[in-house]
Amino acid sequence: MNALKPVTAATLLRARQCDEKTVWLTAYDAVSASIAEAAGAEVLLVGDSIGMVCLGFDSTLPVTLDHMIHHTAAVVRGRKHAWVVCDLPFGTYQQSPEQAFASSVRVLQETGCDAVKIEGGEHMAATIRFLAERGIAVVAHIGLTPQSVKKFGSYGKRGKDYAERTQLLKDAEAVSSAGAVSLVLENIPADLAAEITGAVDIPTVGIGAGISCNAQVLVWNDLLGISESNPPFAPAYARVRDIMTNAISRWVADVKSGRFPE
Ligand code: KIV
Repeated sequence: MNALKPVTAATLLRARQCDEKTVWLTAYDAVSASIAEAAGAEVLLVGDSIGMVCLGFDSTLPVTLDHMIHHTAAVVRGRKHAWVVCDLPFGTYQQSPEQAFASSVRVLQETGCDAVKIEGGEHMAATIRFLAERGIAVVAHIGLTPQSVKKFGSYGKRGKDYAERTQLLKDAEAVSSAGAVSLVLENIPADLAAEITGAVDIPTVGIGAGISCNAQVLVWNDLLGISESNPPFAPAYARVRDIMTNAISRWVADVKSGRFPE
């Protein structure tokens, strides 16, 4: 992938066709966007995970469209060529295709981002088709869908039994035929993710879904070790929380002892 050319949905499809892995990372502001892009991330996902990792909520349910627009606009200002995807938050698309369209229009017009992401499979296919037919790039998200945590009761793995596997396969095929441009697979068995990746024509993006997906995504705070704890499928590549705490506490000590300013 040519890192200097703007990434598009077509770029991601071509990468899949050439067996080239694509890297997605969440970003929530202009600083995280520019660092992630400089480090090689091709897609910046403004996830509604922001509710839990930045805004102090205990689930993604309280996140609003205004929150997402505020942060996505900042990410767009911080990127140069990455493809920026904004999560539509809970309650802003499930009611009807028209509601999803109105929310997507606000997001696209007020932020300048490239695509919206919605959670749900077969039951969201009509909405995805409605948006796709109106020119909107839609990323679908199945498997563990955090906006449904109250229904499922946990953030545990999905697709563990035959019935759930069969439904997830149907979900993947339904959203792909409805016109989704990419498909996030969260916290499902690796062999099921491999089967889904083989069954659909669009790029799959795994998080806790094994190595066969066409792309991988992680949450910024998890990857960098800023979160207090990570989901089991999200390794920390650094301990940035410790680095920040150490720097601030050394400065606090210097102020208290009169060593700062010199
Ligand atoms: O909200 C989010 O960050 C996400 C990713 C975990 C895929 O949806």
